Amino acid sequence: MEGEVSKAQTTARGQWTSNLGFVLAATGSAIGLGNLWKFPFITWDNRGGAFVLVYLICIIAVGLPIMMAEILIGRKTQKSAVGAMKEAFGPRWGLVGAIGVLAGFVILSYYAVIAGWSLYYFGKALGWSASGFPSGLRLGDEFTSFAARGGLQVILSGLFMAATMSVVWSGIKGGIERTARILLPILFGILVLLFLSALSMEGSSEALAFIFRPNFSSLGPDGILEALGHAFFTLSLGMGAMITYGSYVAKKQSIVKASGMIVLLDTLIALFATVIMFSVIFSVPGMEEQVGGSTVGMLFISLPELFYTTVPFGRVLAPAFYILVAFAALTSTISLLEVVAAYVIDEHGVERKKATLMTGGAIFLVTVMCAMSFGGWGAASNFELFEGKTGVFGTLDHLASNWLLPVGGFLITLATGWFMTREDSESELAAGGTPSWYKYGAWRFFIRYVAPVSVGAILVAVGFFGVDFS
Ligand code: PHE
Repeated sequence: MEGEVSKAQTTARGQWTSNLGFVLAATGSAIGLGNLWKFPFITWDNRGGAFVLVYLICIIAVGLPIMMAEILIGRKTQKSAVGAMKEAFGPRWGLVGAIGVLAGFVILSYYAVIAGWSLYYFGKALGWSASGFPSGLRLGDEFTSFAARGGLQVILSGLFMAATMSVVWSGIKGGIERTARILLPILFGILVLLFLSALSMEGSSEALAFIFRPNFSSLGPDGILEALGHAFFTLSLGMGAMITYGSYVAKKQSIVKASGMIVLLDTLIALFATVIMFSVIFSVPGMEEQVGGSTVGMLFISLPELFYTTVPFGRVLAPAFYILVAFAALTSTISLLEVVAAYVIDEHGVERKKATLMTGGAIFLVTVMCAMSFGGWGAASNFELFEGKTGVFGTLDHLASNWLLPVGGFLITLATGWFMTREDSESELAAGGTPSWYKYGAWRFFIRYVAPVSVGAILVAVGFFGVDFS
């Protein structure tokens, strides 16, 4: 009788239809602005090769084990972040889930703003492709004045938030999984086209050398920690997104196989994106010096013009590129909202549609302030809580990347490594079959020692040495 009740409950919570459905949804969460926007920039900033190598090591040694741990916690308990941590480790651990919910709230509120920019540039690119790219356009100035138009910023991020809410509203199968099944293949397709075009460009060999030839003299300890911090962000770890998505995984599916696939796809996409952007940059003399400034600079200031002057088939590829960014961002914002909504649904018994409206609406209020932080509204733009981070946008980004994700990740590794019995984690990971590269002993070693020590180093660096990851 009890079994029946809980079965009915899990069905009501929703489940992915298949392993592929789960892998696509989780990969959609992982692939986002982190891959297309942040990774190419930090690779550039850290002078390539050695940084990429260290990043790959962080992904395998820290990211993959934590990915498996989070999905394991979710699948085992069939609950979202807060409920899962409570059930698996005891009531006090609910706080770790709560940090995750807060992180989801905070990240989504500023992420939606950049996602809105990609929509705007998609529209712009459509116009340029149709009627020609105006010569002499100063894209840097253009961007600054665009970012300062508060009303427009609110509309764009609002559109994005509405799209995100409509997906979460429709639930796991009909909303999140269906969207991922449609958008991810499109995303991969566009990326392959961009990649082929990039490889045909003059600068591609220099780009490949820059990315894959390690030069350790250019990498300092900050770069290593930055690689590690980014591994968290890009894999959507440390905040319960994978716990929540894991809670919709059926018992017959393999966590290990799915995790391997998600991590591999996320890494490949980040590398593809980097090759594409650097091939373009290295193909234009003098571009290297200009790009330097910022992440924003690369995506919204340098690239648009290059599409129309340098990239083969750029007129088709420019709009395709910006819609790619928007799609990638959408599959991530969905997971951010789902963490918060699922918490309200599971822990407070609120019905999904209502929970979506409540949480999405609340987050949007903060989004409005983030959208106004680029000059749209003085009070949101002109303060500095953390050194060098101005406005609501900068402050929240700093809070999430430097504190919430590493703290959450650290406690999740401690919990799974030290407070879950060997039998529990071993059987949960073995269920559904395992691939040949997997060894339980290795996972256990990484989750107990390597991951906590590495993530602990991030916290020490942030807390005591003022290193910044946002
Ligand atoms: N992984 C996403 C990206 O790389 C961001 C994200 C973080 C999404 C945390 C969900 C949770 O853009």
